[in-house]
Parts: sequence; C-alpha cells; structure tokens
Amino acid sequence: MSVAEAVDHRIPAERAQTLVSPQAYADGTIHETYRWLRKHEPLGIAEVEGVDPFWVATRHADILEISRQNALFHNGDRSPTLTSQVADRKVREMMGGSPHLLRTLIHMDAPDHMKYRVLTQAWFLPQNIRSLEPRIREIARAAVAKMAASGGRCDFVREVALHYPLHVIMTILGVPEEDEPRMLKLTQEIFGAADPELGRNAAAAQAAQPEEAQFDFSVITDFMDYFRRFSEAKRANPTDDLGSLIANSQVDGRPISDFEALSYYIIVATAGHDTTSSSTAGALWALAENPQEFRKLKADPSLIPGLVDESIRWTTPVKTFMRTVTEDVEFAGRRLKKNDWLMLCYASGNRDEEVFEEPFAFKVDRKPNKHVAFGYGAHVCLGQHLAKMEMRILWEELIPRVKSVELAGEPAMSEAVFVNGPKRLPIRFEMA
Ligand code: HEM
Repeated sequence: MSVAEAVDHRIPAERAQTLVSPQAYADGTIHETYRWLRKHEPLGIAEVEGVDPFWVATRHADILEISRQNALFHNGDRSPTLTSQVADRKVREMMGGSPHLLRTLIHMDAPDHMKYRVLTQAWFLPQNIRSLEPRIREIARAAVAKMAASGGRCDFVREVALHYPLHVIMTILGVPEEDEPRMLKLTQEIFGAADPELGRNAAAAQAAQPEEAQFDFSVITDFMDYFRRFSEAKRANPTDDLGSLIANSQVDGRPISDFEALSYYIIVATAGHDTTSSSTAGALWALAENPQEFRKLKADPSLIPGLVDESIRWTTPVKTFMRTVTEDVEFAGRRLKKNDWLMLCYASGNRDEEVFEEPFAFKVDRKPNKHVAFGYGAHVCLGQHLAKMEMRILWEELIPRVKSVELAGEPAMSEAVFVNGPKRLPIRFEMA
C-alpha cells in the first residue's frame, strides 16, 4: 500500500497493537478498540512491528461485503490467519515459497475451493445431518449425566463443553474414542499456541514471544502423522463415516492427494469442536451472569434456538480471518492495492451498534440476530448447521434439569487472536 494511503487511515499505534495481542482477546479489552475503530476508522491500516501492515474491517456491513466478494478478496494468496513476518518466512522456506503449511478449504480460492468443498458440503446440510440427531442426543445425555454426577460444582469447560462437541465430531469422522484426548490436546495447542496454559511452547508464550510460540510447527506434524495412518486405514477399509468419504474422494477425476486429505481432516478435526465448545461455555457463562435470561429459557424452552444464536454472536469464537486484495480497487472510500492484506473482525461486526440493539447485552430472545460469527460468502462455515444442532440438543437436555446456576470462581478466556473462548468456567448449580 502507498505511504499516503497508510498515513490517511493509519490506526493509532496502541490500538493497532491491541489487535495483535492475544491477551486483549482474553481480557476483553479488544472490544474497546473495536468500538473506537467502528466509530472513527472502520477500515483502517494497522502497522505493528514484526507483522506486515494490514487493513482492519470492523463494521458488520464491510465484513459481509468483503466476505461476499470472493474474487476481489482471496483467502489463499497470503496467510488466511494473522501471521508474524518471522513465522511467514519460516513457512515459505519449508513449503517451497507457499505461505501455507496445509491445503484446506480456508487456504483455497476458485476454482479449486468449490471442487473441494462440494466433496463434503452435502454431507453437512441440514437434511443430511438430521439423521445424526438420535446419536448426538445420546452423547448430550451422557454429558448432562456427567455434569449431574459432579455434585453441584464443576468447571463447565472441562466437564462438559470441551468433550461433548469433540465426541460428536470424532464420531462423525470415524476417529476412535480412545484417541479423542490426543485430538483435544493437539487442537488446543494449535489455537492456543500463544496461551501460556494451552500452547505447546508455553515458555515462549509466557515470555510474551507469541511468534516463538507460533512457529512450533511440531503440532501440525503430529496431526499429520496421526491422520496419515488414519487415511491409509480408511482407504484400505472404507466405513460409513466422513473420514472414509474424504480419504476416497476424487477431484477432476483423480483421487485427492495425501496432503489434501490430511489437510481436510485437520480442518474438520479442529474447527469442528473447539468453536462449538467455546459457544457452549460462553452460553452458560452468560446465563450464570444474567439470571433473568436463564428464567426466560426455563419458562419458555422454545427460546432455545435463540439462545444458540445469541451465544454464538456473544462468544464469536473465530475472532479473525485474513483476506488478500487481488486488484487495485476503491472500496468503502479507501484505495486498496493488489496484494494488500486485510483482517475481518467478526467479533466487532457482532457488536456493531448499527445492526444490533444493545449489542453488549446478552438476550436469548434477540430478534433478528444477523450475526457474522460463521462468516459469509463462498467460505461460510461448512459446519454451521451441525454446530447449531449440537448446541440446541445439549440445551434441550440440560435446561429442563438445571434449577439454578451461578459462577463459583473466576472464569478465564484463552489468549489467541484467531480462535478463542472460555478455558475455565467454575460454576455452582442445582440439578433436578
Ligand atoms: C459455533 C461454531 C462455529 C463457528 C463460530 C465457526 C466459524 C467459522 C468461520 C468464521 C469460518 C470462516 C467463514 C468465512 O471465511 O467466511 C468457518 C469456516 C469453516 N468451518 Fe466453522 N465454525 C463453527 C463450527 C464448525 C463445525 C462444527 C465444523 C465442522 C466440520 C466447522 C467447519 C468449518 C470448515 C471446514 C470451514 C472452512 C469453509 C471454507 O473455507 O469453505 N465449523 N467457520
């Protein structure tokens, strides 16, 4: 981008720093920056040491429009997630010039993106996943029974929110139950790389060197090793699960490569539970702090789908994705240049005063609720119907049984700029 452009719309240094600070997403201070940006610089440029400059979209309308224009705003030309210059250089060195360690849907653009998305898209449609409802309900009942057995006090994240969606997605993929703890740990190490409690390279994260923590690529290697064996087994003995479908898929008349199959598994295995866990825990946290909303639900269980939407808006587990501009263009009054990098701030769009009445209030009966937590356009979340169905079923099982719930200690959010959510939620509750 030209210097003139950068000066015109430069975001003040302190606010720009907040956008790349994992702690700001954990302690919530990011929202003050978002609020300021929406009002004063809704499409501004962040210049932060160690990271290439990037545009920052904070308004709901701009996030939708950018997400919709997939030819103008690419996913794959640069990293689709915020990456430091050091990490970017390392990846390119390792990957023969490519900025990506994996080749998943989020790294692709037309025409390949759709060719790979259709391999599983029908599988995730509401009419198909409806058949999974009885099995998912069983898993939800087991999760509720476990909570009931915990004696009126638990860490809801550890006891319920983490394991329920994990078990659902692993059952769907065909990953054996005994491997679930490993999948959970690897996912937390990817998304929580900068979190001192969750990241593998915790020492670097603790020393406030998120780049150091980020380029511990051994987590991806471990995922790859696991799924390489998994994929071989699903090719040799296909079963009726998503893992077999992916392993035996063809694109342009040829079997997809090992690298692409492994990448596919990794995105489903990571995106498929952590986000849903975060929204689930975010819901209970909000209900514990807003007893009037809990009472509304108890009185009228038909509000449960509203609870699901509101908790996804409220938590917005995927905080950011990046896009790359494909040609010089005038957009929202800014002159964007080919190859400029751009951050979509979903959590800001979901607190946009122009769209949501009292955006900082948690309302289970919010209507309409046009949140952007699942993104929009060609890359809109593949698992959105599954995520919503899982959450609805859990609340249908849990809400009628819980008589009261309150916080029993200090909850905590994970420290991450890309995907984050509650990592601790101590609660006290009464159950029927
Ligand atoms: C509350 C839960 C979830 C949230 C908030 C969420 C959010 C998102 C977001 C923001 C995107 C990017 C959309 C865009 O670029 O426009 C995305 C993509 C994706 N999500 Fe989800 N997600 C959730 C659950 C799931 C589940 C359960 C799965 C199960 C497989 C899943 C799989 C994916 C995949 C594969 C993509 C990439 C789609 C593409 O690039 O074409 N997600 N999700």
